[in-house]
Amino acid sequence: MTTPTIELKPSSNPLSDAEREAILASPGFGRHFTDHMVTIKWTEGRGWHDAELVPYAPLSMDPANMTLHYAQTIFEGLKAYKQPDGTVATFRPQANAERFQASARRMAMPELPAELFIEACDALIKQDRAWVPDSGEASLYLRPFMFASEVGLGVRPANEFLFIVIASPAGAYFPGGVQPVSVWLSEDYVRAVKGGTGAAKTGGNYAASLVAQAQAASHGCDQVVWLDAVEHRWIEEMGGMNLYFVYGDRIVTPELTGSLLPGITRDSLLTIARDLGYTAEEGRITTEDWKRDNENGTLTEVFACGTAAVITPVGSVKSERANWTQGDGLPGEVTMKLRKALLDLQTGHTADAHGWMHPL
Ligand code: PLP
Ligand code: COI
Repeated sequence: MTTPTIELKPSSNPLSDAEREAILASPGFGRHFTDHMVTIKWTEGRGWHDAELVPYAPLSMDPANMTLHYAQTIFEGLKAYKQPDGTVATFRPQANAERFQASARRMAMPELPAELFIEACDALIKQDRAWVPDSGEASLYLRPFMFASEVGLGVRPANEFLFIVIASPAGAYFPGGVQPVSVWLSEDYVRAVKGGTGAAKTGGNYAASLVAQAQAASHGCDQVVWLDAVEHRWIEEMGGMNLYFVYGDRIVTPELTGSLLPGITRDSLLTIARDLGYTAEEGRITTEDWKRDNENGTLTEVFACGTAAVITPVGSVKSERANWTQGDGLPGEVTMKLRKALLDLQTGHTADAHGWMHPL
């Protein structure tokens, strides 16, 4: 099957420069969208076709669209950063393209070729380049996603899908900026089990997490920490972020058990930390380890990491039975050093030693 080329149908009614600048001055996260989107269709027997870059617009949908009923849908998240010379680059889009394929396999969906995934992101960024924020931590967040577009109520893999990329200027994910977050250890709810969909970036995982997120909020916490679904004691990840535990100059992240998302920031930090001289490992940590090692002072810092959240310190921990301040409750030195190293790389302020940046 041939790979379609993306046909351009530009918007005749983009936002004015003044309207766009007002949004870019304070973009928040996921609240505003650029003027265009890329759409590519997939049909059984025909493959990928009708690739278009079109004005951002609502979709019209049949009430019996299969996604609305059975949630055969996946998504990705990656960012484009303005570089010091004014050009724009994305961070590890090949890794997002490959994870999108892995999610598609798990959800019985067609795999989009990685080149087409990257080309679609590039085409949208080039068209809506004026939406890439200028500096600092702000970036243009890309949200590629795919869903069943067939109409019908039979429970089986759909024979038609739609892939779309939209883009949204992004400031800090947490309104407080780099303030430490408080976390709730969820014992009533589980996110995923081995053999389930936890390692796929599929909407249902997020829908299932919301009641636990609401429970965390009712206990005054910002985020949920998911524990393993069998013993309810092994730390897995957060709602939209992976976790790292800092033991002096050794950092440890929960190993990929099949039920947590293989984060690209998580993976990058294993390398970045080693480049900075730290020991970086994957391991297994229980809630008891967390509490005890914090009390005896060996666990010096904990932080969350992800595309949207970058690196965010964890300042306090709560569960039905316990409540403690992580370290001194303030952003830790290692956390902030890794955060700076990651952002410096993404924004082109340090050399790209691993070939992770994709210039447009
Ligand atoms: N875990 C979950 C559940 C997520 O949704 C995300 C965000 O994508 C992550 C972890 C972090 O992954 P990444 O670093 O690839 O953004
Ligand atoms: C991301 O970091 O890209 C995420 O998907 C996290 C969240 C917004 C779902």
